[in-house]
Order: sequence, then C-alpha cells, then structure tokens
Amino acid sequence: MDDTHTFRHGDSSPGFRFRCLNLLLFCFISYSGTPPVGTTPVSVTEKKGGNVTLTCESEAREISVVELNRLSENILVCEKEECKSENDRVFKEGSCDVVIKDLIYSDAGKYTLNVFYNNDQTEVKRLTLKYHLHIHDAISVKKGEDLKLDVLLINADKVERNSSEGWTEVWMRGHGVNSDRLTVSDETLIINEFTVTDTGTYRVLDYEGETLITVSVTESGSGSKGKLDTEDNTHNEQLTAVYWFWGVGLPVILLVVVGVIVFVVIKKPKCLNRLYSPPTDQNTKEPDL
Ligand SMILES: *[C@@H]1O[C@H](CO)[C@@H](O)[C@H](O)[C@H]1NC(C)=O
Ligand SMILES: *[C@@H]1O[C@H](CO)[C@@H](O)[C@H](O)[C@H]1NC(C)=O
Repeated sequence: MDDTHTFRHGDSSPGFRFRCLNLLLFCFISYSGTPPVGTTPVSVTEKKGGNVTLTCESEAREISVVELNRLSENILVCEKEECKSENDRVFKEGSCDVVIKDLIYSDAGKYTLNVFYNNDQTEVKRLTLKYHLHIHDAISVKKGEDLKLDVLLINADKVERNSSEGWTEVWMRGHGVNSDRLTVSDETLIINEFTVTDTGTYRVLDYEGETLITVSVTESGSGSKGKLDTEDNTHNEQLTAVYWFWGVGLPVILLVVVGVIVFVVIKKPKCLNRLYSPPTDQNTKEPDL
C-alpha cells in the first residue's frame, strides 16, 4: 500500500523523484544492454538424438513467414515434417513452432526465430524470439579405449570437467588441451586410453560462458561388479598370452630354429658344392649325403 502511494501521479516528494530517476536509469541500462526485441533467450535442453520444439506461442492468425537464424545464417525451415530438403531435420509445426529433430551436438547454441505476421491486413509485423539450445548426452567408455568427443564446435570456447575441486578446464580455444593424454583433431577432443579417472561430467561452454553441451561419461560396465569383471578380463588376457607363448609360440620358434640348423648343417655344403664345385665333383659327392 505504501509503495503504490509513493508512485501516485503528482507526488513530488524527494523519495519519489529519486525512485523515478532510478527507474529511468534502469530502463535505459536494460535497453542499451540487450537487443531491442525478443530480449532474454529462452533456454531449451534436450538430449542428443532427441527432438526439440522452439515454441513461438504466437496468437497471430495470419503468419506469413517463419525465419530461423543461427550464427547470422538463415536456416531453411521445412513447411512440414516430411520434406525433401538437405535440411529435413528442421520443420514447422502448428502455426509457427519450429522442430529440430534427431539432435546432434553441433545443433547446440543460439537461435533467433522471426515470425512475420499480419493480423489486421494493413502491415506486416515481426515477432523476434531467441533461444539457447543445450544438448546433453551420456556415454560409457571401455577402459583403454580412446574417447572421441566431437564437441569443439565453432561457437565453443572451452571444455570443462567436474572433479572434486569443481569444474576444471580441459580445453580452451587458443590454448589447446591441458594434458598429455588429450589430443585435438578437427572438431574432436580425444581422450587417449580412457581410465576411471577420466569419468565425470564434461561441459562445453560458448564465449558467453553458457553451456552448449553436457556429456556424462562413465566407464562401461560401471559399478563394483563391472570393475571386477574388467580385472578378471585383464587377468584372463594375461593368461591367454602366457598360454600362447609357451604352448604355441615357443614350439614354433624351436621348430624353425631346428629347421634352420638342419638346413645349414646338411644342405649348405650341397648348395655350396652345386654353386662352386665343378659338375664332376658334385656327382661324386652327392651319394654321400
Ligand atoms: C523425434 O521425432 C520423430 C518424428 O517426429 C520420431 O519418429 C522420433 O521418435 C522422435 N524422437 C524422439 C527421441 O522422441
Ligand atoms: C560431477 O557431476 C555429476 C553430475 O552433476 C555428479 O554426479 C558427480 O558426482 C560429479 N563429480 C564430482 C567428482 O564432483
């Protein structure tokens, strides 16, 4: 009640004037700090491989054009789901919603949706909506395998992983990777010879510090049973290696060595004879062998 009183028109108390000034200042800052239309982006989160709907919630009756932009490029939007276009993952639904299906990592980021509509038949109006699409994923990796994350998108600035010390940087644009076990190839971050210490949540941030992608990485067959299995497997692998060496490898090597010795001792003089001795000599010596 008190607050409404202070804002009543005609009130010229110092308190009122101060508040009014603050309000003007606030409006000015808000206006200059953000784009004029479609202010804060709507955050949308969906898993990789899923479908996302960028809702326009427009009550306009006559929508003429729906235009989707991303990284200052126009994205073709199909009129309906079944369409023959190189961009058939993006289509219009309802009056002006846009669906992106079978999401891939590189779909993450900012979108601008312009809806041009015409309600009163006189002028075309534009409604601008902004979205920030965050994609999450969960993968499990076998110990010793290379984990390839194709997450270094054009709009990606850094990759972080949560550890006991909180989020730690794994990769940063212009700085590269922070460990010998990590490599970068094209848009892919590769964790070489995955170990349990590499598990956790990885997140990819854009230049404004907003999350583009979150990937939860676990060791495949996780849990204590899984770990035991892996140890058993390694043990078995070692046993198999030992078996192959003593059971098959060694006899084969011995056989080859014996063969070589036999060849050298028995055959070599004959060969040498054939090569270097006169034919008559060879004829006399051959029956000896
Ligand atoms: C995404 O949409 C397509 C077609 O509309 C559908 O076949 C598919 O099952 C959907 N995927 C998910 C994960 O809902
Ligand atoms: C990392 O984040 C995940 C999910 O947010 C959590 O389950 C896990 O305990 C975290 N790990 C560490 C080491 O903080």
